[in-house]
Amino acid sequence: MLKWPEKVTIKEVGPRDGLQNEAKEVPFEDKVAWIDLLSETGLSYIEFSSFVHPKWIPQLKDAGKVASSIKRKQGVTYAALVPNRKGLEAAINTHVDEVSVFMSASETHNRKNINKSIQETYPVLEEVVKEAKLEGKTVRGYVSTVFGCPYEGDISPDHVVHVSERLLDMGIDELSLGDTIGVANPGQVDQALTDWKHQLPFDKIAMHFHNTRGMALANVLVSLQHNITTFDASLGGLGGCPYAKGASGNLSTDDLVHMLHQMGIETGIDEEKLKEAARYIQRVLDKPLPSHQMQMMNKERV
Ligand code: HMG
Ligand code: MG
Repeated sequence: MLKWPEKVTIKEVGPRDGLQNEAKEVPFEDKVAWIDLLSETGLSYIEFSSFVHPKWIPQLKDAGKVASSIKRKQGVTYAALVPNRKGLEAAINTHVDEVSVFMSASETHNRKNINKSIQETYPVLEEVVKEAKLEGKTVRGYVSTVFGCPYEGDISPDHVVHVSERLLDMGIDELSLGDTIGVANPGQVDQALTDWKHQLPFDKIAMHFHNTRGMALANVLVSLQHNITTFDASLGGLGGCPYAKGASGNLSTDDLVHMLHQMGIETGIDEEKLKEAARYIQRVLDKPLPSHQMQMMNKERV
């Protein structure tokens, strides 16, 4: 019989990865109300926004206002994406608990997403990590397109290790490996994690799956078999990267929690409260959310 971990940590990225891809701009008051509902679900981590250029991601231009308006729940880490020193300064002014730096394993995606080559990105992030640490913040590092890029196709797993090592050497506390456009299949994830086990510190790794082709939960199962116990997810399956063609919904928090609870794996999350938060953002966005849990709920309500 397969053995599963007893407990899994889910990091909610919906207010950032979810909303950054929505055509409809969510009013600031609704963002705050939604994050406050998420804080009551038992989630221990919420990525609430990003301090990037408002021209690049207008949906999140109110990050500072959001940060100073949400109710901080004890035990919840409130994190935000930061691409450079300017973003870090803005984040620190709002008392963010954790900052997340981000880059891509693909040269083309990196340039399209943050307007720099991979080589040019390292010193920028190095400075952010160093300054954030001096401010007493923990730092997460994202590597995108680890299983494939919309512009370059296959990405070499060795190259992913190389970029990850550079971030780890800077002192990041956690490494989130992103399947940005949801191309990974369970066989590929198994092969990559088998190789990376000897190259990367698994106790610091989170997996960040997008569900573009419906394979995110299957990829989680394989990752659990490799003893990965931290996953990023977005409530209702919202999400995507505007600078990665074809990137759509993240792994749904509600589907993930449901699967894990059915398997007897603890998450600390209350499914009813999660549904309440999902219903809220669905009403605001005025469209059915793609997760299976929400599809079922929407059918029951018709
Ligand atoms: P740039 O144009 O190269 O920036 O953009 P620059 O350094 O040349 O500066 C140009 C202007 O931008 C200056 O203003 C700066 O002050 C300003 P000016 O002097 O012209 O008035 N500026 C800023 N303003 C506000 N906040 C800042 C900031 N930095 C510079 N932080 C930059 C470079 C990185 C800023 C831009 O490309 C950007 O904002 N990119 C963000 C893209 C993004 O957020 N993508 C989505 C997130 S990543 C993702 O979704 C993947 C993930 O989910 C994992 C996965 O799925 O794989 C994490
Ligand atoms: Mg993402």
